Amino acid sequence: MEKLIGLKRIKVAVFISGKGSNLLNLIKNFKKKNSKLSIELIFSDNKFAGGLQYGKRYDIPVKILNYKKTKFYAEKEALKELNRREIKIICLAGFMKILSLNFIKKFKGKIINIHPSLLPKYKGLNTHQRALDNKDKYSGCTVHHVTPKLDSGKIIIQKKVKIYKNDNSKLLGKRVLKQEHVIYPIALKKLISSL
Ligand code: GRF
Repeated sequence: MEKLIGLKRIKVAVFISGKGSNLLNLIKNFKKKNSKLSIELIFSDNKFAGGLQYGKRYDIPVKILNYKKTKFYAEKEALKELNRREIKIICLAGFMKILSLNFIKKFKGKIINIHPSLLPKYKGLNTHQRALDNKDKYSGCTVHHVTPKLDSGKIIIQKKVKIYKNDNSKLLGKRVLKQEHVIYPIALKKLISSL
């Protein structure tokens, strides 16, 4: 297998669709001097995604994926750019599209995602409300490998978050997001140490 860890930093691309707090957190984390990773590219399927501002702020190239044509087209364009920039790892962070098997195969074991629930519970959307409706004692977040099946790949790390008596989905979501920012960088470190 190709040796990923050398003197150079491992290049990472982050895919977003929304406000990008996880993206910002990763950028800040990997700006540290001794970091083995560097975020070199940001993709979004949504040209209005709030997180795109961080591309400008931190001088990281941003590319908008054109899913209006086809998924095949959008992924083909993405792959060209990923290869051109020698990206080795892909982080999905609030990216609202499902990647095809063909795309995932090209980055085998090197695409990961963050999800705001304790998977396998509550795949998909509205995770906080579903945890509250079921009167769960805990919710949490998960970083996992990406497969073409939604939120179903092998789990890398999880963090529990306590649900309080008078909680609501906004408050719970805020506390979960805070923990997402803790575990995503840890998951990445775990991933690269296993490569
Ligand atoms: C996070 O809760 C993440 O777990 C989910 O989408 C949200 C993205 O938030 N997949 P942000 O755009 O990183 O702030």
